[in-house]
Amino acid sequence: MNDTEKKTAVVTGAAGGIGQAISRQFVASGYRVIAADANQASLTRLEAELNRNGQTVWGKAGDLRNKVYCEELIDYSVQATGRLDVLVNNAGIITRGNILETTDEDWERTFDINLRSIFYTCRKAIGHMKGRGGGAIVNIASCWGLYPGPGHAAYCTSKAAVAAFSKCLGRDHAGDGIRVNAMCPNEVNTPMLRPGFARRGFDPDSAVAELNKSVPLGRIAEPEDISDVVFFLCSDAARYIAGTTIEVNGAKPVY
Ligand SMILES: NC(=O)c1ccc[n+]([C@@H]2O[C@H](COP(=O)([O-])OP(=O)(O)OC[C@H]3O[C@@H](n4cnc5c(N)ncnc54)[C@H](O)[C@@H]3O)[C@@H](O)[C@H]2O)c1
Repeated sequence: MNDTEKKTAVVTGAAGGIGQAISRQFVASGYRVIAADANQASLTRLEAELNRNGQTVWGKAGDLRNKVYCEELIDYSVQATGRLDVLVNNAGIITRGNILETTDEDWERTFDINLRSIFYTCRKAIGHMKGRGGGAIVNIASCWGLYPGPGHAAYCTSKAAVAAFSKCLGRDHAGDGIRVNAMCPNEVNTPMLRPGFARRGFDPDSAVAELNKSVPLGRIAEPEDISDVVFFLCSDAARYIAGTTIEVNGAKPVY
């Protein structure tokens, strides 16, 4: 396969727990990846790891609260690799608290990162994919967006919006050959989950072991359990899946 035939994926939050697994999976499957994250140091480590045998990853550090950065990611994909086939909006933050504990700043920051950035990247990506053979977009929402858990008003509401937004785009742009879906994990063993335990005074390893017992499949998800499904949704094997939400939860309901 020559370089112009290789597909390109833009992955946000690429330096985080799930984002690294997604980036590795796309590279292992022959994709080139535009890896976007606010964490420059982790991005540099990921690039060093995945570019050992030639450049397959282009790190692009920045803050998704910046509209220009969101839109530039799409332009950059086309400039650096000549194409854009896949967009995975994976970056996100978890904001804890019921409404009385949620500040204006918490609410705005959560919606800016979890939802508004996706509006900008999707609009730009769909504008590009339309008329160029289509593409696939996966937005990472959460089971907690579909069935809100306790004490996370901003997070759950932002993820519910991501799920609804993905269904809207999926429906509107299926005819353009663009499949848009939302992926909804339950708990995943990543840096997003662990510091929350530490802040609340629990040892993260024992807390994860305890959490594993609450999952009918016997454990919370590892990042690769999520990246496998993201990759599937972007592949031709999922050619008839569009405008929907896919739950990946080990059979654990939200309660
Ligand atoms: N871990 C879980 O239990 C879980 C469950 C359901 C859904 N999710 C969702 O999965 C996605 C990935 O989560 P994760 O567990 O890998 O989290 P993570 O904290 O390990 O990674 C998130 C990444 O997003 C980046 N990021 C955050 N704010 C940013 C900003 N303003 N600009 C650019 N980058 C920014 C961070 O630097 C980080 O590398 C998130 O959308 C999250 O809501 C996670």
